Amino acid sequence: MCGIVGYVGGRPALQIVLDGLRRLEYRGYDSAGIAVIDNSVILTEKKAGKLANLEKALVERAGDGISVGSTAIGHTRWATHGGPTDRNAHPHLSADGRVAVIHNGIIENFARLRAELEATSVEFVSDTDTECAAHLLAAEMRALREAGAGAGAEDGPQLLAEGMRRVVRRLEGAFTLLAVDVEVPDAVVAARRNSPLVVGRGDGENFLASDVSAFIEHTREAVELGQDQVVLITPAGIEITDFTGAPATGKEFHIDWDASAAEKGGYDYFMLKEIAEQPQAIADTLLGRLSERGEIVLDEVRLTDQDLRDVDKVFIVACGTSYHAGMVAKYAIEHWVRIPCEVELASEFRYRDPILDRSTLMIVISQSGETMDTLMALRHAKEQKARVLAICNTNGSTIPRESDAVLYTHGGPEIAVASTKAFVTQLVACYLIGLHLAQIRGVMYADEVAAVVSKLQATPDALRELLGGMEDVRALARDLRTASTILFIGRHVGFPVALEGALKLKELAYMHAEGFAAGELKHGPIALIDEGTPVVCVVPSPAGRGVLRDKVVSNIQEVRARGARTIVIAEEGDDAVRAYADHLIVVPRTPTLLAPLMTTVPLQILACEIAAARGHDVDQPRNLAKSVTVE
Ligand code: G6P
Repeated sequence: MCGIVGYVGGRPALQIVLDGLRRLEYRGYDSAGIAVIDNSVILTEKKAGKLANLEKALVERAGDGISVGSTAIGHTRWATHGGPTDRNAHPHLSADGRVAVIHNGIIENFARLRAELEATSVEFVSDTDTECAAHLLAAEMRALREAGAGAGAEDGPQLLAEGMRRVVRRLEGAFTLLAVDVEVPDAVVAARRNSPLVVGRGDGENFLASDVSAFIEHTREAVELGQDQVVLITPAGIEITDFTGAPATGKEFHIDWDASAAEKGGYDYFMLKEIAEQPQAIADTLLGRLSERGEIVLDEVRLTDQDLRDVDKVFIVACGTSYHAGMVAKYAIEHWVRIPCEVELASEFRYRDPILDRSTLMIVISQSGETMDTLMALRHAKEQKARVLAICNTNGSTIPRESDAVLYTHGGPEIAVASTKAFVTQLVACYLIGLHLAQIRGVMYADEVAAVVSKLQATPDALRELLGGMEDVRALARDLRTASTILFIGRHVGFPVALEGALKLKELAYMHAEGFAAGELKHGPIALIDEGTPVVCVVPSPAGRGVLRDKVVSNIQEVRARGARTIVIAEEGDDAVRAYADHLIVVPRTPTLLAPLMTTVPLQILACEIAAARGHDVDQPRNLAKSVTVE
């Protein structure tokens, strides 16, 4: 999830774009870059690291005349294709240096396009998917110019818009693309498919950005682009078409937030924004994972298929919320792959002298890629010759660098300390790895894998629907703010969900909360139940694993009989649970193993709202850090 800014108008474009990037830096910050058009040249500068590195480089170049320009585009990057280096930072230029492109998203068919371009002697200078778009656009611009006015695009800006339309019609995946052409100095063109893009309407100037916070200090009139639209901005106006060139309209709106609310997309907290982003984060994590032959594609694989066939045991090692994702993964991997899988807390792992060898696959899960406990466990496993596969949200961080293979979650930067979208994308990554192993080892056929993937692909829409109906959960949260304890119970994959629900509440609301395997209640924890004790019960789907669901319903009856106030999370259509629920939270139907993608979400909202009602800092809870780099 990168940050994108474009400007055209009469003021110093470079400064406006840099200011916009600063406001968008929260979206991604492993590298940054700008392109400015001035005096018939495109000047670019790009640097790995924070925006400050780019600004320093620009100051150093001031002497050699980096211009303020009147047209500029800028980018802060959160790497997906290609590590976070100067070379891979955006903008990317065409080989002739006449076109510059920045991009947010993933171009799924980039390997095919790259091969096609290389066959025409185009030399790539980066590892990114974005560079394809720069070369393709330059080729289309050349073709259009050679065709002359007969191509139906008489003036430069129209030519640029047509060039962009021709390019995006060839792209698959999700993208926001912005481009400038040196021969069209007063225009920026952009295209949007499944990635955010808004236009800021100024007076004699116009803006483009990933979100309104980038231009809110200049204008409050904005246009949200629809899917599959191309927009051309010039100082004189804004023109929108669809990908075929037919005139189209965006959604005009007035921004009434202040600048800091705008960064949070109008939400009160980053955490709420990140909860709302989960459907998109899941969709992005699934993008490009299925090859044309129906096989799962990992990102960086320094393991052979034979290595993966030789695996006779899997260890999953992680901390905190990532550990809970690992607990869910165990159920999926053992069920699909039929090899033993153990889940370990990273801080405990190496001290108990685990038995590892070359045929052990260790899966480490870390949002940040820097958690010291997880890193030390990884190093211990490598010393024992185990193969290590990382699931990580931060491209180029230490954990993926030291692993033998990596699957990146494309959740985008997570700002709130309490993990939400990273968790659901880790689940998706775990499912993909399970399916990949099952396929390679011949225990699942391609069509069986594709059937699960298609269920996964349906989850973003289901989650959007769920998120649209959370008002009751918010009201319940306000009601529970004075509770002294809240208990969570679940079975099977509902057990880690119960643990995650309790962890969120501890982290954010500073309340006593415990998660239990529902079947363990009777062996001790049931003594905690008092008159009115809130107990959140995660009920499995009645479809497929009916026995499991009936057992949880019995557990609900046990706690109710002892006075508990039950908050039941159950699947749509499971009407029989109503009788046992003081509060019912209904989630969309999902296959049992995938259900945590749904059932966790109301618990995130519950914890966030209880914390807010208790007056706590939701995004930065006391005593916690986003990335814990000490053991
Ligand atoms: C910290 C954070 C947790 C996170 C855990 C693991 O404790 O507060 O939210 O789950 O670290 O972080 P990682 O980056 O390795 O997933």
